[in-house]
Amino acid sequence: MKTNVLMVCLGNICRSPLAEGILKSKVNPQNVFVDSAGTAGYHIGNAPDARSIEVARKNGIDISGQRCRQFTIKDFDTFDVIYTMDQENYHNILKLCSTSADEKKVRLLLSETDTSTKEVPDPYYGGTDGFNTVFQMIDSACDKIAKRMER
Ligand code: 4NP
Repeated sequence: MKTNVLMVCLGNICRSPLAEGILKSKVNPQNVFVDSAGTAGYHIGNAPDARSIEVARKNGIDISGQRCRQFTIKDFDTFDVIYTMDQENYHNILKLCSTSADEKKVRLLLSETDTSTKEVPDPYYGGTDGFNTVFQMIDSACDKIAKRMER
């Protein structure tokens, strides 16, 4: 059976588009469907931030075709796992849950790694370095997720 995974950040233009592109690059699309969304609606319909597109491109991944959308409660029906980039997104998604089954789907992306850092920091107001760091953090979490799902 196919597993549906949703990556969530605030704006759906920096971190979650990277997480979507990175996880897609590591899994068989016949087994795993990956999408992303933002808790906020500031950038609906927009392409990912140019700095995310560039760091992905440097690492061999094309995310330029993605378009921003906002999380909706229907996503609880569609997705098996909802990975959030930081605590704020995590709590905002939890607040939208209406069942304990929904709650069980919501996780921090970095809970998949053994690092003490449990949040992927928001790189929006920083420089390119922040995007490189965020790429590496998401990449190592997605490695673990993909290996488990493809087992
Ligand atoms: P993201 O980053 O949540 O990783 O997509 C942000 C993008 C836009 C804004 C904040 C964070 N914003 O305030 O517009």
